[in-house]
Amino acid sequence: MTLGKLNINAIHLGDCIDLLKQVPDNSVDLIFADPPYNLQLNGELYRPNQTKVDAVNDAWDKFESKEDYDVFTEAWMRECHRILKNTGSFWVIGTYHNIFRVGTILQNTGFWILNDVVWVKPNPMPNFKGTRFNNAHETLIWATKSKSSSYTFHYHSLKAMNDDLQMRSDWWIPICQGTERIKVNGQKAHSTQKPAELLLRIILSTSNPNDIVLDPFSGSGTTAAVAKRLGRRFIAFDREEFYVQVAKDRLENVKPIAKQLLEYKIETKKPKVPFANLIEKGYIKIGEYLYSKDGRISSQVNADSTISTDEITGSIHSVSATILKKSSSNGWGYWYVKRENKFISIDELRYEYETKYLKNGKQDNNLFPISNNTDLDPQENFLEYDSNAI
Ligand SMILES: C[S@@+](CC[C@H](N)C(=O)[O-])C[C@H]1O[C@@H](n2cnc3c(N)ncnc32)[C@H](O)[C@@H]1O
Repeated sequence: MTLGKLNINAIHLGDCIDLLKQVPDNSVDLIFADPPYNLQLNGELYRPNQTKVDAVNDAWDKFESKEDYDVFTEAWMRECHRILKNTGSFWVIGTYHNIFRVGTILQNTGFWILNDVVWVKPNPMPNFKGTRFNNAHETLIWATKSKSSSYTFHYHSLKAMNDDLQMRSDWWIPICQGTERIKVNGQKAHSTQKPAELLLRIILSTSNPNDIVLDPFSGSGTTAAVAKRLGRRFIAFDREEFYVQVAKDRLENVKPIAKQLLEYKIETKKPKVPFANLIEKGYIKIGEYLYSKDGRISSQVNADSTISTDEITGSIHSVSATILKKSSSNGWGYWYVKRENKFISIDELRYEYETKYLKNGKQDNNLFPISNNTDLDPQENFLEYDSNAI
């Protein structure tokens, strides 16, 4: 399987700009980029006890000037914009050293920012000199190809991941340590290996199984490893042979999770039931009255599924909006019918309809818990009853 001429499910050695140029337009679903930070460290950094700090001082992080860094950023980012599908997501991570420059270039390239996410590190490296605040976070930017892009976002799954509370934009994730940290000959294989948990959240939230995930700055292969584990296809680039080998070795030990465990079961959308369906099946009769919850306002149901009060006619939504003096209203929540002297919400009737007709032969109890409420079943369909006698 290839993307242009490049193999998919592979880590490629080379400069990311050259490699990105080989990727076809609009072909990638998700890009995660962890570019050089351009830390501009001058010399070694020592702790108070004179031991050397393991800071990012690698050749790949060196640029002649900020302008050089910007030229480089613009070049790889323009390619990312070209290859991203209109439905895709672009993620980039950085620190205060580079994220503001990267963020400006990102917007100038045409990307549309949806969120910035703060990766809060509960266990950051201390500020050894004690001259500044302890730098305990990195910033991620999540963007789409353009303002009008429709994109994948598994909102409900992320909410479930967060104990049923909306997932927030501050993610508390420890820095990579312990057995997760890849070592070669006892030394850290990569100075900036990102926690797999960070990529898990990104890939789970903004892509689907079998999507293509691309990382132009692969390093130790975190993106590729998580993508493989989550049943996505991946392609990653790094210009250092050593890192490419580290990532390849890492991937060999990663086994994809079984397909059925990767499905987004709670994201399934309910099929829409128009008000007319309830009339057609006899749940609501032509000529009968709908009422506000307190029974003070009523409107009569017409054959074309509009409703009329003395003054206005329209859909269940537009009439309730006019009554409530709002620009819009959900008529399903506003209107009730009378059944045996009790007010029953039309939304409840819609639910009965869904339970009976939209399960599609499948027993999807999550979506439509089985209802035994036969009281609400219609006795006659719309051909049978006498609308004038209602
Ligand atoms: C911040 S690190 C990425 C770390 C990675 N996210 C991980 O979890 O291991 C940036 C990586 O980009 C690579 N790199 C820098 N410039 C590059 C270029 N022009 N093309 C390809 N790779 C590059 C470096 O070798 C380095 O491994």
